Amino acid sequence: MCGIIAYTGFRRAAPILLDGLRMLEYRGYDSSGVYIAGDGVYRALGPVDNLVQKIPVDVQGTAGIGHTRWATHGQPSEQNAHPHHDQQGGLWVVHNGIIENYAELRAELVAEGHTFISETDTEVLAHLIGMRYEETGDLATGLVRALERVRGTYGIAVMADDLPDTILTARMGSPIAIGVKDGEYFVASDAAPLIRHTQQILYLEEGEYAVITSEGYDVFSFTHERQHRSPELLDLPLDVVEKGGHPHFMLKEIMEVPDVLENSARGRLLLKEGSAKLGGLEDQVPFLRTVDRVVIVGCGSAYYAGLVGKLLIEDLAGIPVTVELGSEYRHRPHRVVGTTALVVVSQSGETADSLACVREAKRMGVKTIGIVNVVGSSIARETDMGVYNHAGPELGVASTKAYVSQLEALMLFALFLGRLRGLSVAQGAGLVCELMRLPEKVRDILAHRDKIQHIAEEYLGYDDFLFIGRSYNFGTAYEGALKLKEVAYVHAEGYGAGEMKHGPIAMIDEIFPTVAIMPSDSMYEKMRSNVEEIRARKGRVLAIATEGNTEILALADDVLYIPDTKEALTPILATIPLQLFAYYTGVLRGFNVDRPRNLAKSVTVE
Ligand code: F6R
Repeated sequence: MCGIIAYTGFRRAAPILLDGLRMLEYRGYDSSGVYIAGDGVYRALGPVDNLVQKIPVDVQGTAGIGHTRWATHGQPSEQNAHPHHDQQGGLWVVHNGIIENYAELRAELVAEGHTFISETDTEVLAHLIGMRYEETGDLATGLVRALERVRGTYGIAVMADDLPDTILTARMGSPIAIGVKDGEYFVASDAAPLIRHTQQILYLEEGEYAVITSEGYDVFSFTHERQHRSPELLDLPLDVVEKGGHPHFMLKEIMEVPDVLENSARGRLLLKEGSAKLGGLEDQVPFLRTVDRVVIVGCGSAYYAGLVGKLLIEDLAGIPVTVELGSEYRHRPHRVVGTTALVVVSQSGETADSLACVREAKRMGVKTIGIVNVVGSSIARETDMGVYNHAGPELGVASTKAYVSQLEALMLFALFLGRLRGLSVAQGAGLVCELMRLPEKVRDILAHRDKIQHIAEEYLGYDDFLFIGRSYNFGTAYEGALKLKEVAYVHAEGYGAGEMKHGPIAMIDEIFPTVAIMPSDSMYEKMRSNVEEIRARKGRVLAIATEGNTEILALADDVLYIPDTKEALTPILATIPLQLFAYYTGVLRGFNVDRPRNLAKSVTVE
């Protein structure tokens, strides 16, 4: 939530900062701003494009900081937009995170005569840093002294008018990536905006700060000990951060699903052994053999992926699994029974509630396993072991390719565990074989996306939807409903089809359609009965069914087919038409599906 960017070098900073902010907009887009050394500060309400209009073309400064905001303290307004300055007006801060004790600090500062312009926690931080800089005469010392007073999370970049070439950046709880190039240095909340300029990236660790000028950088701990850290080569193709001819990142990322499935399976599928090769788990085999209970935590789509993961682990490895929302699990007391493993599913690896669950589990001595997409993220680093999704950067705010990659990674994890715990070679090999075929099957669904667009047009007049599924597609129903809510602002409810008669069927009438996820699997007969019940109440039904099922044509009003696959893999295929349905509905309703209102991709606040 919130994206920060900074640059120092020999080129004009303004275009670099603006370009970087556009790449970071998925983290927040209610206002933005930049400070450019020697030129001043510019802020605008709304998307970065509004800021672009405000910056004169002759702004020449070669260093600066920028921010795109997702409001936490204070409503979206130009006044609350970053950068914020200190009492003297010569020190500038951009901040991603939350200062929890800001009210107390603000009251102290007000008592000392400070005046505040905005309602933000960040302005308090700017005042504190400015004050300590003035007292000590050294920006790094002043920064650390100020941070000693702060409780909460931050990834910050700081500049001072009297040090026009220097940027200080610090991290506690919010990621900071530093890009290194000859005579040019970049800072950002993640690597996406940097890879156009350099693939040499270094991530700050918790409790570290860096002093950066156009001549070099130094990393220090908060106790001022120099850390000898070198950048690593990221090696990402440049087109991962471009739309590649698609009108939206969301569509581009759905179209990438076949490649993502190939990437996340590459080198990991062991056909002969009927298993998966997972480097991040190999030296943990003795522990994994003893696990007798798994808890999966996640938020939003990651939680729904967890619902599928539960069945995969229970079916393939025979270990009982509970699935928990990160925001609930972290606040409850837990009794650790037997050998529990906590699996945390997170695309960004930065979701505050999921990260808190990792820390809570570790405190209790529970081993943690990350199913994470962003390499080097906090959850990836803090978990004891893990499986990377290899979905590449996802810039659309709604999880699409990342969600599918979570399902794939959970399948590989379950397979790996299963083969340690009695799953036969033949059973494992059957799944491996089918995993190899999945990318082609997804390509087949994508090739028929015109049909899905047509269906979205047909259903455009409805304001409410029910999504139902069972067993492996119980989670898919929730995920399908979430996609429609978040990118098309249409009321949609996910439900277990078996629960329908316990309440929601009361809503069904001719203006309340149902999307029924009903592949030809062990749940099909039961789903068919549920669809009959809906039809008997004049509800319109859009079925997601398996190719070759012709009886469904008489049962449902509309059908979107997916290729046949093993039951455990149906969520991967069934999700694709639901993502496209939400995409086209959002676009047809005239919304920016890449930047849904009120949302940000990486939820780094509670
Ligand atoms: C929905 C969506 C969110 C995320 C959730 C968790 O499309 O993207 O519900 O799934 O915020 O995010 P991560 O996976 O980064 O922990």
